[in-house]
Amino acid sequence: MRAPRRGAGRLVHPTPTDRMTQLDRLRNISIIAHIDHGKSTLADRMLEICGAVDPRDMRAQYLDSMDLERERGITIKLQSVRLDYRDHVINLIDTPGHVDFGYEVSRSLAACEGVILVVDASQGIEAQTLANCYLALENDLEIVAALNKIDLPAADPDTYAAEIESVLGIPADEILRISAKTGEGVDDLLGAVIDRIPAPEGDADAPLQGLIFDSHFDQYRGVVSSIRVVNGHLRTGTRMRFMQAGATHEAIEVGVRTPANLPVASLGPGEVGYLIAGIKDVGEARSGETVTEAARPAGEPLSGYQDPKPMVFCGLYPVDGDEFEDLRESLEKLRLNDSSFTYEPETSGALGFGFRCGFLGLLHMEIVRERLEREYDLNLIATAPSVEYRVVRDDGHEIVIDNPADLPDPGTIEQVLEPYLRTTIITPSTYTGALMDLCQSRRGEMVKMEYLSPERLELQYRMPLGEVVMDFFDQLKSRTQGYASLDYEPVGYEPADLVKVDILIAGEPVDAFSSIVHKDKSYEYGKKMVDKLRELIPRQQFDVPIQAAIGSRILSRQTVKAYRKDVTAKLYGGDVSRKRKLLEKQKEGKKRMKNLGRVEVPSEAFISALRLED
Ligand code: GTP
Repeated sequence: MRAPRRGAGRLVHPTPTDRMTQLDRLRNISIIAHIDHGKSTLADRMLEICGAVDPRDMRAQYLDSMDLERERGITIKLQSVRLDYRDHVINLIDTPGHVDFGYEVSRSLAACEGVILVVDASQGIEAQTLANCYLALENDLEIVAALNKIDLPAADPDTYAAEIESVLGIPADEILRISAKTGEGVDDLLGAVIDRIPAPEGDADAPLQGLIFDSHFDQYRGVVSSIRVVNGHLRTGTRMRFMQAGATHEAIEVGVRTPANLPVASLGPGEVGYLIAGIKDVGEARSGETVTEAARPAGEPLSGYQDPKPMVFCGLYPVDGDEFEDLRESLEKLRLNDSSFTYEPETSGALGFGFRCGFLGLLHMEIVRERLEREYDLNLIATAPSVEYRVVRDDGHEIVIDNPADLPDPGTIEQVLEPYLRTTIITPSTYTGALMDLCQSRRGEMVKMEYLSPERLELQYRMPLGEVVMDFFDQLKSRTQGYASLDYEPVGYEPADLVKVDILIAGEPVDAFSSIVHKDKSYEYGKKMVDKLRELIPRQQFDVPIQAAIGSRILSRQTVKAYRKDVTAKLYGGDVSRKRKLLEKQKEGKKRMKNLGRVEVPSEAFISALRLED
């Protein structure tokens, strides 16, 4: 590969069509790293060393394109970039760094022959990184390990190299030591990638088989997919068959990212690039989809296609009922870009019209909600997160519910099953006691406890997902000062003693506050909600009882005392216009009120009452 030339202040890249990339000069890699261990910074250094970005255009975390990602400092959507390095081409495929997006990690690994494992030399390997490394090993990928941040005074590369050797079997003396910040060792790391990671293999003459590992929606160009060609050629202008979706599309543009999009005539086996095919919905070009030629289709799709399944659900309602249609439109638009969340209309007695939405996890839920509020200018109320329960009725029928309101009458239920996880926690050993308490209080059963080194250990628990979605992650972080890390995987359903706790305001159940909880925790939950609501509901013209109940059994009760609120009372005399003005203002305020029977509750009370962390 020729080095990039600079022309008129712009980098001009030799296109791969100048000369087909030879397979043995190609390397396809991902970086596996825990959040904050320096993956984006390392990618920035690699882009610089390989001359992919003009230094004047360089900004930190070049590959994190979404605003929200930059702000939160986490990678959510995958990006890939083609780098020229010492006569070789390295395709660097980004992976998201959060447990919610494990599915996307597995997709990007499917497009690689090797990974760079980046571990913070002052922290050591974390739970999810370890899980992703196991995944890489299962897929026969080569791992090049690097300890990052060796410039930090707290860095202890020897200890953590030994730890990596003991958990992953990578010899400590093969683990590189780098600083993504200063650039030290990054050149050697790229050298190790060329030397140690195998080149892709593929049959250039076979029918096309390409793996889509990411898609996003572009307002002007429709769906832009990232694709790895496994066999054959993907050529601009050909008609292609999407094997799993069963649709046919034309390859309008095929190209590589340098990181700017650079159209090419074709991508050969082993190559990674992008594909634009005039598709309007990312759901039709999902990660895991196999693309082949319509005229000469491959016999089999590539393996491993699997729909990401939502695990966490909640209702989203506009604070102002008039914004329902806006919310629908915004959800439609957002879904063009993220086919892993689901939504369907639902009605709540308390909150009006809204949508029941499903997400991959809590962070995913927060991100979708934040994008709706920020990018689409909506004000939303989100109900408490819930999971999918399987309910076996006494007539033998089984139904699946994700909304507490849909739980049938307890008298007709034979059994309720809830989803379980195997959670893996890696923590400094000083917090072991605190974490065991936390896991036990969340109905966890210990499966494994193993020291990684004298100071750090791995804990495994079986735990209900329903307990994990209730601020477990925040608790884990706060009880360990942020040092513990978490990974989880679903391990099926188990029967549990679950009940629905209703909250009644002035005798009326408020559906938005109902929750399915374990029987042993029902009192605690009921009392917490009742106490919280007593603080949040303003006084009315009459006493307002607030109760928590299971069926007709009352668990807890509080009363908001009556109070006569007359905003004009203090206006003695006859300033009519001022009086009118105040009444107008009060009317405006009422728009943001929700009526529960006779009781008026400000929308803010709903938002606060449903907030998890309180
Ligand atoms: P995600 O995008 O969330 O996965 O995080 P990341 O792994 O990409 O981490 P990022 O590159 O954003 O780095 C996290 C923090 O560590 C940033 O403040 C970086 O400046 C800092 N950092 C990264 N590499 C180094 C390093 O080698 N030395 C020092 N001192 N700081 C570093």
